[in-house]
Amino acid sequence: MESMRLGINLDHVATVRQARMATEPDPVQAAILAELGGADQITIHLREDRRHINDRDLESMRRVSQLPLNQEMGVTAEMLDVACRIGPDIACLVPESREEVTTEGGLDAAASEARIADATERLHNSGIDVSLFIDPDEPQVRAAVAIGADAVELHTGTYANLAGSERAEQLKRLRRMAELGSQLGLKVHAGHGLTYQNVAGVSRIPEVVELNIGHSIIARAVYIGLQQAVADMRTLVDRVRTDARLDEARAP
Ligand code: PXP
Repeated sequence: MESMRLGINLDHVATVRQARMATEPDPVQAAILAELGGADQITIHLREDRRHINDRDLESMRRVSQLPLNQEMGVTAEMLDVACRIGPDIACLVPESREEVTTEGGLDAAASEARIADATERLHNSGIDVSLFIDPDEPQVRAAVAIGADAVELHTGTYANLAGSERAEQLKRLRRMAELGSQLGLKVHAGHGLTYQNVAGVSRIPEVVELNIGHSIIARAVYIGLQQAVADMRTLVDRVRTDARLDEARAP
């Protein structure tokens, strides 16, 4: 089982800044602390309405942070132009509507294969890997393969919002889709709504090789600092992964 890559979503550092239309806190400075805390990647979402991250953040992040950059973006001509100019390591294509508080539901890749395939080809031509943020549904995983995506990020929001046996069912679904995606040659990532309390279940899925986590880490950072908040998540995920590896080795 591979070790888990940890992407830290820093959008909400910019959300605090924009609450006052001020210059601090700065997501680029935050990226340095996230790196010191053990992050493998910085994830930021340049939204159409620029409600948190803006173009300058993205440009500065690319120049200053040494970590790989994951740009979450809607599938629009404007965002494709921005991504091809900035050159993140990977673009995670997400659905985006102006009214939503945060990304709601996955991208309907199955319904828009041709449009997403065109966007994927354009990003690939600029040397950018492509991940599709999808619900854990078989038609979506198969569409991601048909589109030529490098990875899928399985939406864990439903898992995060459920409890008890319903959450267990959703975890099984994530596991099945992670297995399918991996068998079909996709890298499998996961994210949305993950917290210190619920991250263990997803971290135990061997095919999931990357998590992207924002809100819960930034919330903890308000109390104890970002570097420590990232380090706590790093320790937690690594411990779960090591235990799962030992269980796998012991299995008959
Ligand atoms: N992955 C994707 C594709 C997202 O859109 C988001 C939210 O911006 C996240 C991960 C992080 O979600 P959260 O802030 O709930 O951890």
